[in-house]
Amino acid sequence: MSQRKLIIIGAGGHGKVVADIARKTGYRNIFFADDHESGTCVGYPIVTTSEKIEKYNDGETDFVIAVGNNQVRKTIAEKYDVNWVSLIHPAAQIGINVKIGGGTVIMAGAVVNSCATIGKHCIINTCAVVEHDNVLEDYVHISPNATLGGTVHIGECTHIGLSASVKNNINICENCIIGVGAVVVKNIINEGIYIGVPARILKRFI
Ligand SMILES: CC(C)(COP(=O)(O)OP(=O)(O)OC[C@H]1O[C@@H](n2cnc3c(N)ncnc32)[C@H](O)[C@@H]1OP(=O)(O)O)[C@@H](O)C(=O)NCCC(=O)NCCS
Repeated sequence: MSQRKLIIIGAGGHGKVVADIARKTGYRNIFFADDHESGTCVGYPIVTTSEKIEKYNDGETDFVIAVGNNQVRKTIAEKYDVNWVSLIHPAAQIGINVKIGGGTVIMAGAVVNSCATIGKHCIINTCAVVEHDNVLEDYVHISPNATLGGTVHIGECTHIGLSASVKNNINICENCIIGVGAVVVKNIINEGIYIGVPARILKRFI
């Protein structure tokens, strides 16, 4: 059991799940920071807004961001010099030689296989599969039930949607959204939204 405090930034739906992981991994002093909510969230007090979290940075407090939007997570992470912790659900499976960056959350039923490298402030959501030798840059979100084959590279801030699949040895560049159920079989080099089987571009960002 951890005596340290934990502040979860974001008291929305994702925050509720992160609080459950925190409790299951031994945190007992759990608080939320949220700019739009007050009161409590799943029984834990909302004590401040994201603007004021630094006053809680007393050396005895850990922090994690529970915001699904990758760009927002990045903005918050870059703003504060605090102890960002990674949280791993006890029912997730983590292989040998896996590297996990600070602030990353790995949810129930997720599998991260051997020699995968996951950056800072990523979300590996419920039952996602990140196969061996993957490299996920910072602020990536792999949605529930999505599957990445072996040796996939995902660029910073890219979001892989619910139940999407990425073929082995594929590179997807930064700032992409892969839609629900898409199947990516070719490298993606332009930032944008991709949908369908096989995945094709819906909208280009730049
Ligand atoms: C791909 C996505 C980003 C598109 O969102 P959007 O830009 O708002 O696009 P729209 O909803 O306006 O849809 C545009 C068109 O694409 C279609 N479309 C949207 N998402 C689709 C998908 N995943 N697969 C196939 N077609 C899709 C729509 O039906 C619509 O078609 P139409 O023009 O013939 O009516 C979104 O639908 C999506 O899949 N987001 C991922 C959600 C997710 O995984 N969340 C995780 C929560 S943990």
